Amino acid sequence: MNPAVNMALRPWREGDADDLVEACNDPLTQRYLPLLPDPYTRSDALAYIGNGDTARAAVVDRDTDEVLGAIGYTPGRDGGAEIGYWVMPAARGRRVATTAVELFSAQLFQSDFQRLYLQTALPNLASQRVAIAAGFVREGIARGASRNRDGSRYDTVVWARLADDPPGPSPRALPDLPDGRLTDGVVVLRPLTEDDGLVTYDMRILPEVSGRSVVGQPIDPAAVTRQCAESGAKWLAGQRAEMTIRRAGDDAYLGEIALYYAEPLLREAMIGYSLAPEARGHGYAARAARLVTDWGFEIGMNRMIAGTAVDNVASQRVLEAAGYSRESVQLTRLPGPDGTRIDNVAFAKLRPAAI
Ligand SMILES: CC(C)(COP(=O)(O)OP(=O)(O)OC[C@H]1O[C@@H](n2cnc3c(N)ncnc32)[C@H](O)[C@@H]1OP(=O)(O)O)[C@@H](O)C(=O)NCCC(=O)NCCS
Repeated sequence: MNPAVNMALRPWREGDADDLVEACNDPLTQRYLPLLPDPYTRSDALAYIGNGDTARAAVVDRDTDEVLGAIGYTPGRDGGAEIGYWVMPAARGRRVATTAVELFSAQLFQSDFQRLYLQTALPNLASQRVAIAAGFVREGIARGASRNRDGSRYDTVVWARLADDPPGPSPRALPDLPDGRLTDGVVVLRPLTEDDGLVTYDMRILPEVSGRSVVGQPIDPAAVTRQCAESGAKWLAGQRAEMTIRRAGDDAYLGEIALYYAEPLLREAMIGYSLAPEARGHGYAARAARLVTDWGFEIGMNRMIAGTAVDNVASQRVLEAAGYSRESVQLTRLPGPDGTRIDNVAFAKLRPAAI
């Protein structure tokens, strides 16, 4: 990340119009603030500035007065206010938004607001990271809470900070991978993203994969691409860490693996994985399972667990190769074909004493 900037908030001025036009026509700003005019013209900018509304501020470099971004609030009921922001394309990745939210929140708390909140689209990971870094706590998903330009609705993640919340970032149950990836030199695991959508769909649609999935058959490529784009939101929420498995060197697609953090109180997480047919039989799944399991212990898990259908011998071998032991057979735990239930062989690996 580039060095942080010395920032200030000030009222908008007429001379800022070109910056507003540039930032508000930027594709990312348009994607995540879909109610902005498209195209956003100079007269839109002048109308916004001329409004003289004290609920909005320009975020500027304190030394040069260069416009870096925008921040504003809309008052809600009972001492609450919703904050919104964008950052100039060239100023992104320098903690501008995080610092602006911190400064603006401090001002609003001083003006007696008690509860500040943000709403972020599920694929907008940069904005969710801003929320976490500025100490906002994730409260949940507000279904259909925001509107697109065509009137359709989309879900948002709601984040809030209360006047008496402790300073600093809000805690995360699942941290980022060290250097953004896990690797043993043969396979590389990295967080699932929108770009993995089509290859992931091709694998999830295979009968032996969807037939063993607890969530069933994927609907279509667009739905899987959306799930991949929204996967990072589940990671930031501490719910699950989904990764694509690639071959080191040529980045060939091998499959996927995830750590599901279903039992935070017990510090127990489960792994699940699938490989593309051409990637099977090379030990890649065991390598991926080992990497995710070791990472699970590094981030504080006490027990790592996994389960397979009784007849899924290949998966049982993978778990044994990754150091898991068979614990029990859980009757009717898994969905089977045609609405039936099938038994699950439960495996576990315990936290090594040395960690
Ligand atoms: C969202 C936005 C305001 C972030 O501004 P920014 O100044 O680049 O954010 P920061 O530099 O403060 O970065 C905050 C965090 O986001 C991360 N981040 C930045 N860009 C990212 C990206 N493209 N993908 C994932 N994470 C990203 C940073 O690494 C940092 O994470 P950390 O705290 O874990 O280190 C900016 O991308 C933007 O203007 N987007 C378009 C408009 C928008 O989305 N507004 C918010 C609507 S809710």
